[in-house]
Amino acid sequence: MSRTKIGVLISGSGTNLQSIINNITTGNINGEITVVISNKKEAYGLERARQHNIDAVFVNQKDFENLEQFNDVLIEKLENHGVELVILAGYLKILSKKFISLYKNRIINIHPSLIPSFCGKGYYGIKVHEAAINYGVKVSGATVHFVDEEADNGPIIMQESVHLDYEDTAETLQNKILKIEHKILPLAVKYYCEGKLKVVGRKVIIVENEELKNNK
Ligand code: GRF
Repeated sequence: MSRTKIGVLISGSGTNLQSIINNITTGNINGEITVVISNKKEAYGLERARQHNIDAVFVNQKDFENLEQFNDVLIEKLENHGVELVILAGYLKILSKKFISLYKNRIINIHPSLIPSFCGKGYYGIKVHEAAINYGVKVSGATVHFVDEEADNGPIIMQESVHLDYEDTAETLQNKILKIEHKILPLAVKYYCEGKLKVVGRKVIIVENEELKNNK
């Protein structure tokens, strides 16, 4: 089976990007990151990419008149790198309708809460964890999902939870959840690259499990 060509979009430190790079290096993911694109020049994730000889590209939204034109350039860069799967690993911008339809069921996002809690417009970065702490929830977690036209709304591939302690702050919760993210994002990408993710309506079936079920 040929290696899936992956493009990763980032805006920040890129620890999730690193987790994918690590899983590719160990052979756990049958994929290859051909390009990392950031909308922030100073994003450390670009440096991580360079350290692994991956093309690292900064595209400034301010150089474009509107979101569509900016996204057209992102599409062009991804196409030039033969990208088959797009991963949003801490990418903080909205995608254009054209982008989303072009890569339907081929864009994976990681969100640091149990969707549909603490997600959608305005819930990004540390704000997600502040909201969870302020609400007083006992459980939060991370969600990996396919991307559709609405923010944090597409079919869920994988989720994992963490328990909150009374002493937890937004920052300690963020760290707890990042550990989970670094586990479930690579796992979802691994399944994708092995052709094991099947989208049926809002549900994502991990085909291996379905086969096991059928063989019972
Ligand atoms: C992660 O918490 C991710 O869930 C969210 O943004 C953060 C990115 O972290 N979408 P990093 O840049 O991968 O370290």
